[in-house]
Amino acid sequence: MAWPLPLLLLLLLATANAEIDDPPPPPPAPARWPDQFHAVLFTNLTNVSTASTGPPLRLTDLYYDWPRRRNLNLVRHQLSADPLYDVEWDNGTTFYFDTATCRTEHFPVGVLRPGWLSDGGAVYLGRQSTGGIECHVWGKAGFIVYYEDVVTRRPVRWNFIDVTGIEQFVMSFEVGVVLEDDAQWQAPAHCFPDDDDEGNTEDDGHFTTTSSMEAAKLLRKLAGAAAF
Ligand SMILES: *[C@@H]1O[C@H](CO)[C@@H](O)[C@H](O)[C@H]1NC(C)=O
Ligand SMILES: *[C@@H]1O[C@H](CO)[C@@H](O)[C@H](O)[C@H]1NC(C)=O
Ligand SMILES: *[C@@H]1O[C@H](CO)[C@@H](O)[C@H](O)[C@H]1NC(C)=O
Repeated sequence: MAWPLPLLLLLLLATANAEIDDPPPPPPAPARWPDQFHAVLFTNLTNVSTASTGPPLRLTDLYYDWPRRRNLNLVRHQLSADPLYDVEWDNGTTFYFDTATCRTEHFPVGVLRPGWLSDGGAVYLGRQSTGGIECHVWGKAGFIVYYEDVVTRRPVRWNFIDVTGIEQFVMSFEVGVVLEDDAQWQAPAHCFPDDDDEGNTEDDGHFTTTSSMEAAKLLRKLAGAAAF
């Protein structure tokens, strides 16, 4: 049977009104980081034109261990045999070292909290596919753009808003995996030289591996920016 036109119109209007009256759904919220995980990150300093930033491609093992309030980035430059360690403690001390050099820095913040993104301040930027994975995207504090798998809610990628154009891609993400070997967390002897030893430089800004650590340092700063 044919609908009388006015009735059809009423129906349409009713539907339209229902849509207007429904409050829009809240934007998706990012997942909290698991308390412990191991991630392998592919890093690209996409704005390597800055020249001073060192080799642009790195592979980073990130061991995040919130219960023990520590965080380790093990950074390998492309084809480099000597990995760089970045060991962060909740008292604000970070040790950056390889087999020959060490630098100690003190930050006014501890280890990044699991809720650094999920607990507030994230601005939803919509959906985007990256690496063939459909993601929700958020920004925070003009500092980071963060991609999370729509289905699994795992982190997929983040870009720092920084002149080096650092982009990190999560290649694997193992929840609950902990680096138990305490020797890996222990800063080596050359981080604790005698007073007359030149081995350790503290906050002088000229340490050769500084630029290698930028991604980790940016995340650490974010811990401060997150401020809760
Ligand atoms: C790294 O980023 C640069 C600049 O966007 C791009 O041209 C290059 O292909 C990237 N390298 C890799 C291995 O992804
Ligand atoms: C912070 O903790 C680490 C690991 O226990 C330690 O090596 C470092 O000396 C501490 N830093 C300060 C300033 O106490
Ligand atoms: C890339 O680096 C150059 C040189 O340092 C800088 O002027 C430019 O702003 C950077 N690009 C971005 C997108 O930050």
